[in-house]
Amino acid sequence: MCGIIGFTGKKEAQDILLDGLASLEYRGYDSAGISYFKDTGKISIRKTVGKVKDLRAICDDENNSTCGIGHTRWATHGGVTNSNAHPHKVGKVSLIHNGIIENYHELAEEYDLSSSLISETDTEVAAALFNKLYDGSPVDAIRKAARLFHGSFAFCIMFKDHPGTIYAIRNVSPMVASYCEDGSFIASDLTAFINYSRRYFIVPEYHILTMKEDGITLEDLEGNQIQPEYLEVDWDVAAAQKDGYPHFMLKEIHEQPDAFTRTITPRIVNQLPDFTEDGLPDELFADCTDITVVACGTAMHAGMVGKTLMQGMLKIPVTVSVASEFRYEQPVISRTSLVIVVSQSGETIDTLEALRLAKKYTTKTLSIVNVKGSSIARESNYVLYTHAGPEIAVASTKAYTVQMASFYLLCCKLGLSLNKITEHEAKTFIKNLQNVPNTISQVLTQESEMQRLTNRMINAQNTFFIGRSLDYTLSMEGALKLKEISYIHAEAYAAGELKHGTIALISDGVPVIALATQKHVYSKVISNIREVKARGAYVILLSKDENITDKSVCDVHIRLPESPDAFSVFNSVVILQLIAYYTAVGKGFNPDQPRNLAKSVTVE
Ligand code: F6R
Repeated sequence: MCGIIGFTGKKEAQDILLDGLASLEYRGYDSAGISYFKDTGKISIRKTVGKVKDLRAICDDENNSTCGIGHTRWATHGGVTNSNAHPHKVGKVSLIHNGIIENYHELAEEYDLSSSLISETDTEVAAALFNKLYDGSPVDAIRKAARLFHGSFAFCIMFKDHPGTIYAIRNVSPMVASYCEDGSFIASDLTAFINYSRRYFIVPEYHILTMKEDGITLEDLEGNQIQPEYLEVDWDVAAAQKDGYPHFMLKEIHEQPDAFTRTITPRIVNQLPDFTEDGLPDELFADCTDITVVACGTAMHAGMVGKTLMQGMLKIPVTVSVASEFRYEQPVISRTSLVIVVSQSGETIDTLEALRLAKKYTTKTLSIVNVKGSSIARESNYVLYTHAGPEIAVASTKAYTVQMASFYLLCCKLGLSLNKITEHEAKTFIKNLQNVPNTISQVLTQESEMQRLTNRMINAQNTFFIGRSLDYTLSMEGALKLKEISYIHAEAYAAGELKHGTIALISDGVPVIALATQKHVYSKVISNIREVKARGAYVILLSKDENITDKSVCDVHIRLPESPDAFSVFNSVVILQLIAYYTAVGKGFNPDQPRNLAKSVTVE
């Protein structure tokens, strides 16, 4: 949460910062600001409540500074006001921050900083502390301050009497940097400077970065110089742009067939799952007695799909925990348990902490992560990268689909290793998986129908998503998608559970989106649908049944392509994503930047 960028080099900084911030806006968009060195040696700040476009409107056309830092905020400490917006400036220090300094009250008191503060933020306390500890050596001040902070932080700092230089340090909160011929760049993620450099390195925790026009130096807190380990971006610049689509979310929905193919293809050898290239040893699967999946939000919903599939096929216990709860439970994990941690960003703090906890019990932690080199990927014992490419829209779509795909591959591999399926069955399973991009593409042709359908959703106050088995887990994702971008209250229910209370909320015209794609529970779901229909619900049914004509079952029938039951989830979810997208757009909201949300949740 919060996006940060810094640049010092041969080019004018202002546009680099503003463009970089625009691509970081998915991390927060409550306020935005930049600060930069002026010729006079002074540091100037421009900041405002609102988005980067509002900041751009108040920036100085004549600003030719070549060194500055920028920030887009997701408010944690202190409301959405100009004075709480970053950058903050205290004395000789101006800085931006992503993270939370948990002991800021104590620090303010102990170092007598209160009189220099004008905002309500923990960040300004940090600025005041750096200023207080500063005696001419920025690195010394940073070293001392870093040892005092409790919490997470990624700081970019400028000291008034060191023009042209940006200092940085981080703990937990992500930061990547690069030196190239245009100068030195640093940001929360590399989409912010990919137009200038495809090479980058992950800033190691508790290392001080000194960035100048002609290079970057990196040292640990003891003063030892460290060589940065550069990586190369493996996706195209165009992947981080809208490419003609009105929103990233719609583009990412359409990217799903390709993302799916990219994710599964390298893991299939001779029609069987193979993770040799990922470095996953056979022992990881061979003696697995149980599985715990830990994740947040949509990634957790992918875990729910994984659980239903794996428990059914492998006949071993699979539990799914919300990471923020898992951390405070007594986990039942043994040496033969497999812990699967799922995260698109690889930086979600609760998921990261859950992983750290799991590692105390087992060496078999496997993460399913999209962002290469992210904290979760680095800290887990094994990693399976999804190849979704950059996901920019706050609401996750393609990342979810490839997380599910990863579970399908893993399940097949475990099935073989644990002798729960034959090689022939595994090959059939993989063949079905390889066909998924085709059926998703078929579903995408129904887009305009979905757009029309949502006219009926726009005025709804409440909606319900129901299903059984895999369809229930998908309902959770459908409800989350709708509520987070259209602000319509949406609840997911196991279809059979509705009548135990919630059916009281069904009245005339309430939309119920019902999923009935699983043969073994089909007739039961149809009965549950009739129950809500009888109470006036407006039912939108997703099924593969070609014979639905009965108006007592549904008002709208969305026919899904033929595919084996276990694989229908990939088709249904695309419909649910399109319903959410067009409902939000129909209501006049920007689905890429839903209110109160940010993409990478790096606060607990
Ligand atoms: C919802 C959404 C979130 C994320 C959650 C975890 O559309 O995107 O619920 O799934 O914040 O994020 P990651 O996967 O980055 O750990």
